[in-house]
Amino acid sequence: MNEQMITNIPEEYRVDEPVPAHEPERQDFFVSLCRNYIEQNLKEGRQLKYAIVTFGCQMNVYDSERLKGVLEKIGYTESSEEDADLVIFNTCTVRENANQRLYGHLGQLKPRKKANPHFMIGLCGCMMQEPSVVAKINTSYSFVDFIFGTFNLHRLPELLFARLHENKRMIEVLPEPKEHVEIKGAKRKYSFKSGVNIMYGCNNFCTYCIVPYVRGRERSRTPEDILQDIRELAADGVTEIMLLGQNVNSYGTNFMEESEVISSNPEYGFPELLEDVCAIPGLVRVRFMTSHPKDLSDKLISVIARNPKVCRHIHLPIQSGSSALLKAMNRHYTKESYLSLVDKIRETLPDVSLTTDIMVGFPGETEEDIDDTIDVVRKAGFDQAFTFIYSPRTGTPAAAMEQLPEDVVKTRFQRLLNVVNEVAHQRCGRFEGLVKEVLVEEKNAQLENFMTGRTEENILVHFPGDEALIGKYIPVLLKESKGFYYLGEAVRK
Ligand code: 5AD
Ligand code: SF4
Repeated sequence: MNEQMITNIPEEYRVDEPVPAHEPERQDFFVSLCRNYIEQNLKEGRQLKYAIVTFGCQMNVYDSERLKGVLEKIGYTESSEEDADLVIFNTCTVRENANQRLYGHLGQLKPRKKANPHFMIGLCGCMMQEPSVVAKINTSYSFVDFIFGTFNLHRLPELLFARLHENKRMIEVLPEPKEHVEIKGAKRKYSFKSGVNIMYGCNNFCTYCIVPYVRGRERSRTPEDILQDIRELAADGVTEIMLLGQNVNSYGTNFMEESEVISSNPEYGFPELLEDVCAIPGLVRVRFMTSHPKDLSDKLISVIARNPKVCRHIHLPIQSGSSALLKAMNRHYTKESYLSLVDKIRETLPDVSLTTDIMVGFPGETEEDIDDTIDVVRKAGFDQAFTFIYSPRTGTPAAAMEQLPEDVVKTRFQRLLNVVNEVAHQRCGRFEGLVKEVLVEEKNAQLENFMTGRTEENILVHFPGDEALIGKYIPVLLKESKGFYYLGEAVRK
């Protein structure tokens, strides 16, 4: 996988001024060139619009917010997918169904491409890092206008300009990062909360997982850069920060190449970073995601305990409760060590909400393995478990193993899901009748005159209120547990 670089962006452009050689100046230059195109259209009475459709995880959500910021700088305005002149799909390839969803969307867009000469389609994200996907798009979806990958997100303006300039499909997918350029000026969905990448990539090579192949080796950003970003966000009104990484607990093991000076400081890891983030004035809540059970340290637990700003919620993917399967998955922990980690966390943080990811149908799995997983679900008392059917990913070791029959997997999946739901319902009910602080996020889409917010445990609460509350922290009485969320009522302070 990823053995070859795919690129057809021209080196030379026929433009009046010299093209800056370095970033970010180079992309700023292309932003202004693209803006001419928008202005030309405006003169003809068209305001060009964009939509970014995001699949997958929080990393992609945050990447999309940054791409939106870039498109707005160019002069596009955001619209629905149906109304957009430019649709970019930020793709996920962690499971095959995410891939199928993309192809479904593309099939539907083909007629629009014919009907509207201005209509453009761009593809980016993890799926594009697979050469077989790019090859398929080239043959079966040749109406796509441009493609880029996970290592060159910042080059969207140049790619867009090249597409407009050359009037042919542009593809730039790099097999590994060449340089790292942070994109500034994200267009956030919520003014009061934001993700912040603290690291990129993953070194763990769980045998089922494609992430290390499509996101590359683990690279941590420097504490200085991260803290500066967060200070800027706080100054811009952000009060809740989500620190993002595939395995935040190994933060600081491998710094980015440009920051080798700092990589010599073995004392600075995730707990230290978390503490420094908490010290930033203006922040009320700090979250992080995702934790690998093999790397969650005692030090981290005590930093969480002594910093009330760190939300009492830990997402700790277990994948399976069977030690044998965990070994086959290359997870580096056992059922017992996971459970003792949970005990340790609960001793220090009794109210913590624990969520997890579980996979069913990994090659070699038996009914007893599912029994083990169910046992852990009950003992650990997960507040929520995201359950997935194993999906073989080309190039990963598990894809070459003998796969299980679909019907067997479906029955096991349902068996597990019943227990997961039962436990989550019990756990969610534990706050019924209490008043909890809720960060109000948005208007409730279903219930009229209701707002929706989250407790620090990441539990959703719907309650009567108005839009003036958005972005505020207010005490809410959790009147009725509905299993995964609460109906509540705001109380006066
Ligand atoms: N098939 C199914 N689920 C997967 N995940 C990762 N790879 C696969 C795969 N090949 C799940 C894991 C991970 C979550 C983000 O996605 O549970 O924690
Ligand atoms: Fe994938 Fe494992 Fe890395 Fe998570 S830790 S991204 S599951 S390889």
